[in-house]
Amino acid sequence: MEKLISSRVNNQSVLKSYVFPPENRPGDVAVRTCNTIPIIDLAGGDQAEVIKQILRASEEFGFFHLVNHGVPVDNMMSVAKEFFEMPVEDMAKLYSDDRSQIVRVHTSFDYDNEDVHCWRDNLRHPCHPVEKFMHLWPEKPSRYRDVVGTYSVEVRGLALRILELICEGLGLERDYFSNGLSSTQLMSINHYPKCPDPTLTLGLPKHCDPNVITLLLQGEVCGLQVFKDKEWMAVEALPNAFVVNLGHQMEIISNGQLKSVEHRAVTNSTVARTTVVTFIYPDMDSIMEPAPTLVNVQSLPLYRPFRFQEFLNTYLDKSGNKASTLESFKL
Ligand code: OGA
Ligand code: NI
Repeated sequence: MEKLISSRVNNQSVLKSYVFPPENRPGDVAVRTCNTIPIIDLAGGDQAEVIKQILRASEEFGFFHLVNHGVPVDNMMSVAKEFFEMPVEDMAKLYSDDRSQIVRVHTSFDYDNEDVHCWRDNLRHPCHPVEKFMHLWPEKPSRYRDVVGTYSVEVRGLALRILELICEGLGLERDYFSNGLSSTQLMSINHYPKCPDPTLTLGLPKHCDPNVITLLLQGEVCGLQVFKDKEWMAVEALPNAFVVNLGHQMEIISNGQLKSVEHRAVTNSTVARTTVVTFIYPDMDSIMEPAPTLVNVQSLPLYRPFRFQEFLNTYLDKSGNKASTLESFKL
């Protein structure tokens, strides 16, 4: 499929349509040292302390590393890499520009009116409940369905546990997210091939995730950057850790207490990078609003109630821009 960057890449130069305008280029990515976001040990210390750390990281960074989380990640990472190492024809069978396709491979950032292409190919599909969707998942690599089936269940357990801890920290009922607010789970595998000049390109441009919470495996290759205090901060690669970040819905539900923070992915010239992302989403019909128990006379609601579908339409329309997306939902 000629649109996939995996089939267009060469070692000499960056195609013009992938060159970002100077103000959006990542600069000298190679020499930047990796600062780090907070590292939270899920098995360390007492639960009250873990909750405190999660809340603090969520208020200040909107991101944290999670270690000792109990979810095996090696098979998932390796099958994700195998998928993008297959001949391009095998991936191309699943290629579609139609967002309503349940299982699809696509490329770049997925907005209709993009000026510059991003240096990324992507495979995505729903994975909860596993039994409902597994038969639609890729048939190759042959162990894909097995590995992703097992992983999806485990990572969901972890995501719901983090949500419970966040609820305790915020003072919400433990199961606040357990129904419609976490019922959709998407698997999204990003592939960023080696790039001849990483200073000109982006794997993903600056964006916030539109969902509730995201659990990302970036393996051993650094490339994720978080926008903190008006600067880009590189996130260290901790191979077995999850990078957890909060989506727009968490910022809204917490009435602005927890942050959804902008981030992007940069490319590199030495090694291809594959990341495995689990997005926890509300149902399209869920009504989103600041949690009623967090709203009172001192803390007035910042957002109006809306259907999640409406939010997603606005998000796509505003190409992921945080300020202009949230503006439409502010009171
Ligand atoms: C995403 C994302 C970052 C990465 O998929 O939304 O931010 O490093 N990915 O792949
Ligand atoms: Ni993201």
